[in-house]
Amino acid sequence: MLCVEARSLSKSYGDVVAVDSVDLVVEPGKIFGFLGPNGAGKTTTIKLLTTLIAPSSGTIKILGTDALKDPLGARRRVGVVLQQPSYEPNLTVEKALDKYGMMWNVDGGTRKRRVEELLTAFDLKDIRKKKNDDISIGQRRRVQVAREFMHEMDLLFLDEPTVGLDPSARRALLDYIKGRVRGGLTIFFTTHILEEAEYLCDEIAIINRGRIVAIDTPDELRKKFGRKKTIKVHVEGVRDLSGVLRDVGPHDVSYDGGTVITLHSADSERALVRILQVLSSNNIEVEDLSVVPTSLEEIFLKVVRDSEGQGDASGI
Ligand SMILES: Nc1ncnc2c1ncn2[C@@H]1O[C@H](COP(=O)(O)OP(=O)(O)OP(=O)(O)O)[C@@H](O)[C@H]1O
Ligand SMILES: [Mg+2]
Repeated sequence: MLCVEARSLSKSYGDVVAVDSVDLVVEPGKIFGFLGPNGAGKTTTIKLLTTLIAPSSGTIKILGTDALKDPLGARRRVGVVLQQPSYEPNLTVEKALDKYGMMWNVDGGTRKRRVEELLTAFDLKDIRKKKNDDISIGQRRRVQVAREFMHEMDLLFLDEPTVGLDPSARRALLDYIKGRVRGGLTIFFTTHILEEAEYLCDEIAIINRGRIVAIDTPDELRKKFGRKKTIKVHVEGVRDLSGVLRDVGPHDVSYDGGTVITLHSADSERALVRILQVLSSNNIEVEDLSVVPTSLEEIFLKVVRDSEGQGDASGI
């Protein structure tokens, strides 16, 4: 059974088509990353999939249930942390977690155990007695994410859960998510932080102006869109290589003096072979080689640019 199956999903607000004929499939046990610039339609998609708003057209199945015919049924084993902050100002952190569990009809014993687990996992123990109003924005975000784990679920939607979190809190959350996925949870996750998507996601969809413009595993995206690669060649001893490099021919080579030659092109490997030949025939020894793969960030920018019809045909 698929966790999410949306077909030809659209949502318009007046003239604005926020989500435009989107098809999405999320398989169980996966972390699905949803990326896109501001206003691309990520939050709208999450609201549609969690039945918080109704689509203009299209179909949605969540955990096998038709979300349009039976919204309550579809949400029964689904969690969602929205982008918008949400908290009760006067509740203490521990009460906020407990109350959330109560709302989901979790029994007292289980609630007590989960509150302790989550206070530890989200590093909230020191502030457990503080009111939501009196804690920092990042701490409040941690409470908002933590409380969602109070109830049983098979599928969790997270809309930019790490915004406002410091690096260690962010890493702790990502690792906690990974652990829960190993335990059988499926995650639909939006972010602007591309390293985060790369670290976490099995599959990534890029949305721009309401349309999905790429969807694949991080590796495949890199293969498809990240043709250009940077190779750095470090040579021994300091000398001016400009003269030598003139023999390399028409390759994308940059050299600013010193001992490092940088290649950046779709066929960096071929350029590399040529450079090694030239260096060897000049008796220059290579000390080290390093390859910098195209980052997801470059791919993201390229895909978004191309989808707006301004892409350069040569790739990144
Ligand atoms: N309630 C609404 N009424 C009118 N327009 C809306 C409404 N909600 C969203 N929109 C519009 O729909 C589009 C998609 O918005 P959405 O919030 O889904 O973007 P997003 O990808 O989540 O962006 P961000 O990265 O900033 O969170 C935007 O053009 C936005 O202005
Ligand atoms: Mg959003």
